[in-house]
Amino acid sequence: MPNIYSNIINFNSNSAKKIIKILSKNGIIGLPTETVYGLAANAYSETAIKKVYSAKKRIKKNPLIIHYYDLNRAKKDVILDNKFYKLYKRFSPGPITYIVKKKKNSKIKSIASANLKTVGIRFPKNKIIREILKKIRFPLAMPSANKSSSISPVSAEDVSDEFKNRIKVVDGGYSKIGIESTVLNLVGSTCILRPGKITTGDVENVLGQKIKISYNSKIIKSPGMLKKHYSPNIPILLNQKKCPKKFAFITFGSKYPVTRNSFNLSKKSNLNEAAKKLYMYFRIIKNKGYKKIYVTQIPTRGIGKAINDRLNRAAK
Ligand code: TXA
Ligand code: MG
Repeated sequence: MPNIYSNIINFNSNSAKKIIKILSKNGIIGLPTETVYGLAANAYSETAIKKVYSAKKRIKKNPLIIHYYDLNRAKKDVILDNKFYKLYKRFSPGPITYIVKKKKNSKIKSIASANLKTVGIRFPKNKIIREILKKIRFPLAMPSANKSSSISPVSAEDVSDEFKNRIKVVDGGYSKIGIESTVLNLVGSTCILRPGKITTGDVENVLGQKIKISYNSKIIKSPGMLKKHYSPNIPILLNQKKCPKKFAFITFGSKYPVTRNSFNLSKKSNLNEAAKKLYMYFRIIKNKGYKKIYVTQIPTRGIGKAINDRLNRAAK
C-alpha cells in the first residue's frame, strides 16, 4: 500500500545528516518543537527565508522567530540585557520567545525579521530540534508550519496536510504543549505580545515587576497578532452550554455527556491537556466536515488565557 505520507521522515543518525544537508543547501523542512511544528529555514540565507514566506503565503511584514541552540550563538546576532538573562535562566530552553534588539552586524537576514530593528528569539526544548540546532552553524527561522492564518500543526501528519505532501517533515510525535510560545517584548516597555504556556504571572515572578499585556489592545504591536488567526475557517461560537447534534461541540470538564459530536478537551479539567488537544480537535472537526463549532467556557487560569486567546481569534 502506498504511504500517503511519503514525505514524513523518522529521526535517526542517518536522516539527521539528510535534514542538515537540506537546511544547509537553503531548503525548507518541517520540524517538531515542544509547542507546535515549525517550518525551518537557515536564518542567514535570504533564499531559504523567501521559500518559507512563499510556502506559507505569509505577508512579508510579519517577522519570523529565530531559533538558537544556546546563548553563545544568539549573542552574535542580538543585544541581551539583564532582564533577558534572568528570564532565560528560568524559562529557556522552553516555550517562550523574547523580542530583543538586533545587532548592527547581525547575520540574520533583514527579511526574516521584516526589516525591523528587533528580532524574536527562542531556544526550543524538544530533543530533535535541539540535536539539529546543535549540529548546524546557523540559527533557524521557523514560523509555525501552516498556511498563513490557518491552524498550527501539532503532528507531522498535520504539516503534510497543510502543504499537501510537498514539504518534508520530521516526525516527532504529537507536540507536548500544543499551542505556540509566549511572545514577550523586552524592547522599550516589557509586555506580553502573545500569551502561552509561560504566563504573565510567571514572568512577573522572575522580574519582580508588573508587566503589560498588549495582545488585547487595538493597536497591533506584534505584526503577527492579526485578529483572525489560528482558524479552522468554520464559524465558532464561544461560551456555549449546549450544542445541536449536527454541529461539533468542544467541551471541557466532566459534566458534559459523551456524544458522537462532542470533543472533550479534558474530562479531568486539566488545562495543559486541553491546550494539547485544541488544534488537534480543530483539524479532526474540519476533516469530518462539520459546518459549525460550539465551545463551552474554558477557565482563564494558567495556560487557559492562551487557549481563550486562540479561541477568540479563531472565532473572529
Ligand atoms: O511556538 C512557536 O513560537 C512556534 C514554533 C515553531 O517555534 N513558532 C511560531 O511562529 O508560532 P509564528 O511565525 O507562527 O509566530 C511568530 C509570532 C508572530 O506573531 C510574529 O509577529 C511575532 O511572533 N514576532 C516575531 N518577531 C517579532 C518582532 N520582532 N516583533 C514583534 N513580534 C514579532
Ligand atoms: Mg503561526
